[in-house]
Amino acid sequence: MCGIVGYIGSQQASQIIIDGLRRLEYRGYDSAGICTFDGGAVQIHRAEGKLINLENILRETPATGTRGIGHTRWATHGRPSEINAHPHRAGNIVVVHNGIIENYLKLKARLQSAGHTFSSETDTEIIAHLVEEHFRACNDFEAAVRLALAEVEGAYAVAILCSDEPDTLIAAKLGSPLVVGQGVGEYFVASDIPAMLSHTREMIFLEDGEMVVFTEQEMRFTDLSGVSLAKQSKTITWSPLMAEKGGYKHFMLKEIYEQPRAIADTIAGRLQSEEGDIYLEDLGLDDPQLQKLEKIFIIACGTSWHAGLVAKFYLEKLARIPVEIDIASEFRYRDPIVDDSCLTILISQSGETADTLAGLREAKGKGSKTLCVCNVVDSSISRESDGVIYTHAGPEIGVASTKAFTTQLVALYQLALKLGRVRGKLSAEQCREQVEALLTLPRKLEEALELDEHIKAISRDFMNARDFLYLGRGNQYPIALEGALKLKEISYIHAEGYPAGEMKHGPIALIDENLPVVVLVPRNATYDKVVSNMEEVRARGGKVIAVVSGEEIDLIDKVDALIRVPEISDDLMPILTSVPMQLLAYHIAVFKGTDVDQPRNLAKSVTVE
Ligand code: AGP
Repeated sequence: MCGIVGYIGSQQASQIIIDGLRRLEYRGYDSAGICTFDGGAVQIHRAEGKLINLENILRETPATGTRGIGHTRWATHGRPSEINAHPHRAGNIVVVHNGIIENYLKLKARLQSAGHTFSSETDTEIIAHLVEEHFRACNDFEAAVRLALAEVEGAYAVAILCSDEPDTLIAAKLGSPLVVGQGVGEYFVASDIPAMLSHTREMIFLEDGEMVVFTEQEMRFTDLSGVSLAKQSKTITWSPLMAEKGGYKHFMLKEIYEQPRAIADTIAGRLQSEEGDIYLEDLGLDDPQLQKLEKIFIIACGTSWHAGLVAKFYLEKLARIPVEIDIASEFRYRDPIVDDSCLTILISQSGETADTLAGLREAKGKGSKTLCVCNVVDSSISRESDGVIYTHAGPEIGVASTKAFTTQLVALYQLALKLGRVRGKLSAEQCREQVEALLTLPRKLEEALELDEHIKAISRDFMNARDFLYLGRGNQYPIALEGALKLKEISYIHAEGYPAGEMKHGPIALIDENLPVVVLVPRNATYDKVVSNMEEVRARGGKVIAVVSGEEIDLIDKVDALIRVPEISDDLMPILTSVPMQLLAYHIAVFKGTDVDQPRNLAKSVTVE
């Protein structure tokens, strides 16, 4: 995830900014850049790759001046490269930005027709051009920033300099975090606390729609219409490591809580509510090619494979196309019947998983078109695939995948809707309904996260169990598998996921009063069937933890623990029921004292066969 650091004061800005960016390295990035102002002279330096590359450039050509902005970029729009690295400049304006501008294509077209030329593939450059355009009209930096931001839809945290007003630094936020650090005779602004912690512990948190204008003598807060705001600072007592985790005990918990934002970012710019359509920019196949497809293969490993299992439901239901799904390490050796009438979808958070990469090459070699769903721009799998749908989860540091999984589900759902429309299986009206439901998802996830304390209490009750069974049917079966995998990975408790209806064919022999059984039973077409399966567990003394939806009351007296997620469409329910699976595994692991973020024997990215 991108990082911003800005400084204005009496010290040389460059080293302070580089040190701050280094403290944000844990967020992941693929290029870095800095702009300092020495009087009116604008100095911009950028480099692809790690900060050391930028530092090498700065050793050759030092950046001087007592005000400046810096950035580490985690690519979303446009590949990782020097040209796409921030800061971006348009005339007298220089910008660094975190977030995603949803209407950037529209704004870019307008600016281009007004004579602006762009040098990068980023959405960020739009902001520089917009501010520059307004500055030319009003000759007032602050007013120009306000007018520009009023045109922007999406999420942003920005820090902006103007060479015509070199003593002013402006920052603003909507949807992406931004914090101000107050020093003595100097000010800092950054996307996260650790960047400033060695200089000051007095922090002021900007809220959405707020802006701050710094000069060396003062800082002023306003809303985006210019109304002054009084803001209070807070004294931060966190250690540097706590600060990296945003105050959460583990990266995994932080990432679980980041899901509403990650999903909103993955949705951003892709839903065309009015037209009842979906826009996916790099599919690598045009509409006639999508119409001709006869079959889809999905290939993935681990959690990504679970996302694929849910996607099979989406694609077959919404696009009416047959889907075959394989674990990547199986696919590559079974001589699959794949040809140019097929699309092969690779799902990989990291984009570097060796088995999935081999599956991609196998499918390509047999003539299939390939499309990946990936969280890392320019990773091996995204480079070698014909098309790509990026999830915008931001870097996932905890080994156990959480936000990467739920954003994969969102991206795959968008693909199914797109295919449904193109192949004439979904009307604009039907697609519009799904799009409306998708837009409610971030808020419903916030509600699901409120279950945290309740799930913690349940976890305490069951933490000593030796085994767990997870049951689900239909699109909840993959979530049962995912719940079991999460528990195994981080708590080292043996757990199995099973289709609820299949339990009677074997695992039922395991059930006794020592076996907790997590049953996913939201109200849907198979609700009664799953309740019957649950009764089979109860009749044998098994302990039931039921995950239900909405106002469910019928099961209250029939279970040992009840977890209620908000109501949403059946298609999107797997995304909501994933949250209690993650929290249950997390709290049990914490009670058992395991290494949650780096569990034994596991690697974040499995690049060997
Ligand atoms: C998930 O919690 C795991 N750590 C693991 O199963 C992972 O999903 C799998 O290795 C696939 O990784 P990828 O998505 O990066 O390809």
